Amino acid sequence: MANEPQGATIEDYLLEERRFPPSEAFKAQTLAASPFLYDDADQDWQGFWAKQAGELLDWDSEWHTILEWDLPFAKWFVGGTLNACHNAVDRHVLAGRGDKVAYHWEGEPGDTRTITYSDLLVEVQRFANVLKGLGIVKGDRICIYMPMVPELPIAMLACARIGAPHSVVFGGFSPDSLIDRINDAECKVVITADGGYRRGAPSMLKPNVDMALASTPTIEHVVVVQRVDEPVEMVDGRDRWWHDLMEAAEPECPCEPMDSEDLLYLLYTSGTTAKPKGIMHTTGGYLTQVAFTHKYVFDLHPDTDVYWCAADIGWVTGHSYIVYGPLTNGATSVIYEGVPDAPARDRLWDIAERYGVTILYTAPTAIRTFRKWGTTEPAAHDLSKLRLLGSVGEPINPEAWMWYQEHIGGGRCPIVDTWWQTETGAIMISPLPGATTTKPGSATFPLPGIGAEVVDDAGNPVERGGGYLTLTRPWPSMLRGIYGDPERYRETYWSRFEGRYFAGDGCKVDDEGYLWLLGRVDDVMNVSGHRISTTEVESALVDHPAVAEAAVVGANDAVTGQAIMAYVIPRGTHTASTELGEEVRQHVATKLGPIARPKTVIFTDELPKTRSGKIMRRLLRDVAEGRALGDTTTLADPGVVEEIKRRASESPTED
Ligand code: WT7
Repeated sequence: MANEPQGATIEDYLLEERRFPPSEAFKAQTLAASPFLYDDADQDWQGFWAKQAGELLDWDSEWHTILEWDLPFAKWFVGGTLNACHNAVDRHVLAGRGDKVAYHWEGEPGDTRTITYSDLLVEVQRFANVLKGLGIVKGDRICIYMPMVPELPIAMLACARIGAPHSVVFGGFSPDSLIDRINDAECKVVITADGGYRRGAPSMLKPNVDMALASTPTIEHVVVVQRVDEPVEMVDGRDRWWHDLMEAAEPECPCEPMDSEDLLYLLYTSGTTAKPKGIMHTTGGYLTQVAFTHKYVFDLHPDTDVYWCAADIGWVTGHSYIVYGPLTNGATSVIYEGVPDAPARDRLWDIAERYGVTILYTAPTAIRTFRKWGTTEPAAHDLSKLRLLGSVGEPINPEAWMWYQEHIGGGRCPIVDTWWQTETGAIMISPLPGATTTKPGSATFPLPGIGAEVVDDAGNPVERGGGYLTLTRPWPSMLRGIYGDPERYRETYWSRFEGRYFAGDGCKVDDEGYLWLLGRVDDVMNVSGHRISTTEVESALVDHPAVAEAAVVGANDAVTGQAIMAYVIPRGTHTASTELGEEVRQHVATKLGPIARPKTVIFTDELPKTRSGKIMRRLLRDVAEGRALGDTTTLADPGVVEEIKRRASESPTED
């Protein structure tokens, strides 16, 4: 039965009673053992952020106003000047930490590079001069379309150094996506590579750039990193090799002093159907919150930790937690170029063991995949150095959380489930390890300084139960707008609930005030008038030992309005059968109540996902309702939906 709703607009069925208080061993060394950060922030949230900005960053000149808030437009640390590259690189070298490793980089074929902070400074200055030599001045936009090679963060930092905002386009995107993004930002230069390695073979990028450039009139030059050494076309006068330009470049380039509110970068999010939005992040507030969250959420001890965020730099996760956060904090990080199963399914554990990784940050989709692959691979490696695990990108199902905790974390590592978005720039809701008792599947509480509240349809706060997640006050790393479209910014994020930022996510609050993310509200299902979250049904499915992964959608139904369709990937040696389908349907009914029992279970080997690993429920709804498929351009593997369509047509509808 649903817990009694108190103004709730999404019902609340899943009851999770396991809890994990921080261990004494972890508490003894953590940066945030006591509630001091929360207390500080409760007293004066603006003063709290100002204190963090002062402590965590080097400023060239002081700000005169912490926050100017003209809803929905924020300015943080107004009047202050600083440079992001100086904060990420120079100041560590100046402080005598130049020999410290910034990145242990590993290519998919097994080649490696060790890059110290001094090395970064050398490369970044030279590349900044390369950009200047190509006519780039402060304020010009640069498109970066690269594999996960060291030149990618180097290029970003060089842009930051001279005040040219970067717009990184994920290397898996098509020429069309590249065209839209380059033209929207009117970029002058594209930085790319001939290709990168994926699944043991070169995957070419330069040909995509060549295709795009037929339709991007603002591009004057292309800089190409030689990574795979396959032949590519180089257009005379337009295309230049990275290594040639670097060799000829001057070694020294000063940092451009930047206003706190100067644009640091654009990052495009595709949304579901509409034109991609150029999310704007500026300098002072962004760096403050990424440095703060990277330090306290990951409990970073820069002298002893080896930190690994296994995301792609092409997503905001990589911008904030591979590049700007860790470098600003002087951390040592791992970067890996390729996929987790090349050459074998133990690649991540092999890397973690060899570099002595202590902090690992990855996504639920990866965790569910590892869980599906089984425990042999992680068990074959020494993961005893790990002391903290993180998750981001989707709600993490309690069983995936438990598996991560036990088989990767050896039962000793706290898990930080971190909720945030491209738009928020940095982590917003998360445990502080050492201070927060966690519950599997809950992102727990807003971080110090952050205001988050769940509201009902009318915008009234929900004390307990499900509703819409909103943010109640500005935060330093918030988006400053959508590039070139202030109206769309207001309309998209600030119009649904007066005075509040609406994130688009459903969320429930439990008896103790813990927050449980319920997925996108567009995905919420309405069964006989009950508003049921996809996340809760999926978590109940994944709770069954024979289920590796699941996605559910509501499909039109003559009787119940919508009926729940479940797409299920069997786990380990289990195989699809009518009996198993019946069993997992029953399992959901037992865990959540009969109303949440899926009408149909369709077994499949894969689920349609975006390239960042999020399940595309919209396409599953198209399949369930027998419609032609909507836009599939952001789909990682288009073949998957065809396969699912075939399976769906063969699956009996039960009930
Ligand atoms: C959306 C934002 C945040 C960096 C990567 C994704 C979902 C993200 C969680 C979490 C539940 C989560 C939300 C959010 N999401 N983290 N810990 N628990 N859901 O950035 O591509 O902008 O996606 O990802 O739905 O709105 P993004």
